[in-house]
Formats: sequence, C-alpha cells, structure tokens
Amino acid sequence: MKKYFVIGNPIDHSLSPKLHNFWIKKYNIKAIYDKKKPQEENIKDLIQDIKLEKIDGLNVTVPFKKKVIPFLDKLSPDAEKTQSVNTILLQSNRLVGHNTDIAGFINALENLNIQLEGKKFFILGAGGVVPSIVFALNKIKASEVIISNRTKQKAENLKTQFGNVKIIDWGQILDFDVIINATSLGLNNEEINLDFSKIGNNKLFYDVIYNPIETNFLKIGKKLGNKTENGKLMFMHQAAEAFKLWHGIRPNIDNETAKLLGND
Ligand code: ATR
Repeated sequence: MKKYFVIGNPIDHSLSPKLHNFWIKKYNIKAIYDKKKPQEENIKDLIQDIKLEKIDGLNVTVPFKKKVIPFLDKLSPDAEKTQSVNTILLQSNRLVGHNTDIAGFINALENLNIQLEGKKFFILGAGGVVPSIVFALNKIKASEVIISNRTKQKAENLKTQFGNVKIIDWGQILDFDVIINATSLGLNNEEINLDFSKIGNNKLFYDVIYNPIETNFLKIGKKLGNKTENGKLMFMHQAAEAFKLWHGIRPNIDNETAKLLGND
C-alpha cells in the first residue's frame, strides 16, 4: 500500500485527502492519502522517509512550500523558478520537488474561456501562492502584472525575483482586466477594505480562496457587474497534476469531482 500525505499548518481544513482518496479509489490504485501537521524541525525526516520508501510522496502547503527546498535533491524548472514546491516524489532515486500550482492556475483560467494574453492583472497579496501566480501570468503573456501587499517589502521581494512586475501601495487601485485576491482575507469572512467603486464593470474578480465559495471580495465584484470565480478549479487542477506525477494518470475534472468538494 503506497502512502501519501499533505503537510501544512493549519491542515485540518485541507480537502486534498478527500480529493486524492476519491481518485485513488476511482482508478483502483493501492494507496492511501492522509494529512499531517509537522513541526518545522520534523520536515527533514518526513522528506527522508520518501527516500527510505516509508512513504511515497508529499503535497506541501502553507507555510512549508519554500521551507522544504533545502531537503530536496532536485527541483523541477517551475519549482526552481518560483522557489515554491507543492509536490514531492522520488524520481531516479532522487528527491524531486515540483510545483503544480502553476499548471493548476493556468488550467483554471483557461477553463473560463476568456482571452488572457495581453490582459492587465492586479494581484492582492504576496504570500506563498503568489510566485506561482506571477510565473503563470508571465507564461500566458499577461501585458502587465501589478502587485499590492499590506507589507510592501514582500511585494518588492517578488519584483526582485521576477523583475517585470509593478508594485503599488496597499489601498491604491489601478485599472485592470483581472483582479486576483491572493490574500487570506475572506477565509473567515473578513471584508477586504478596498474601494472598487470606480473600476467599472466587465472585469474578472478571481479569488484563490474556495471555502467559503463566495468571499466578500467576490460578492463586491459581482455586485459591481463583474464576472467572478473562486479557487476551486485551481485547487482541483493542482491536485490532478500531482496525482499524475505520482500515479501516471491525469484525473478528469468533472461535475462529480466538483460536487465532492461541496458547495456549488
Ligand atoms: P504567508 O504570508 O505566510 O505566505 P499566506 O497565507 O500565503 O501566508 O499569505 C497571506 C497574505 O494575506 C499576505 O499577503 C498577507 O499580507 P502581509 O504580507 O502584509 O502579511 C495578506 N493578509 C493577511 N491578513 C491581511 C489583512 N488583514 N490585510 C491585508 N492583507 C492581509
């Protein structure tokens, strides 16, 4: 029986076990997927357990996506470029870190069937998932990427990492085609205190959060006449890409999968 875990802190609310175990059953794989909340000092041993073949793979979430890197032998090009790892496995006896958040985000956007190339993207936040989003936006040839974060220095660090991003103060709003909430504001129904009243309509409000299904950020966007999308598709697609790396099968993202995760 193969063994997989998702590690993070907090981890109680992670829906990854539900999704992976659903696919494991569906595709008749002899495996089990569980969650763990390790202390930071135990991460090294946990990763070594993959080399010792005690476990077969890990998904990594906040706040460990960067912290796992020193304990790996190799990074995929995407993980290297973003310095962010969400999937680990043994390949040719080497511990390899991958980043499937990038493909997850691109797949989710493409699913919306809107023109993405040449659009202006405005990202709120500079936390764990933002390097993957910026990298993905460069890949799809966004015309401009603007970042605003409460702690400006963290946004400035992303500029150092990626170069072609514009940083503005928290509270300032510029014109955009797509705005992405990548802050944690909304996870507990918090308001996002930004004034969108002058931005007009026909934009896309995208939230990385998928639980709750409609954050206050999305509610405001909708009320102002914009298209909205939550992070559920991105979550499902990053999981499907990780599943493919481990088991060689890319699960379909269908209504049955979406229903499994509750809400819409
Ligand atoms: P981390 O910052 O540890 O990577 P995260 O969940 O990936 O954690 O990111 C949280 C994001 O939400 C950050 O961009 C954070 O802003 P700071 O960098 O200033 O902490 C943002 N955030 C959290 N609470 C916020 C609040 N009350 N107002 C504005 N931004 C907030």
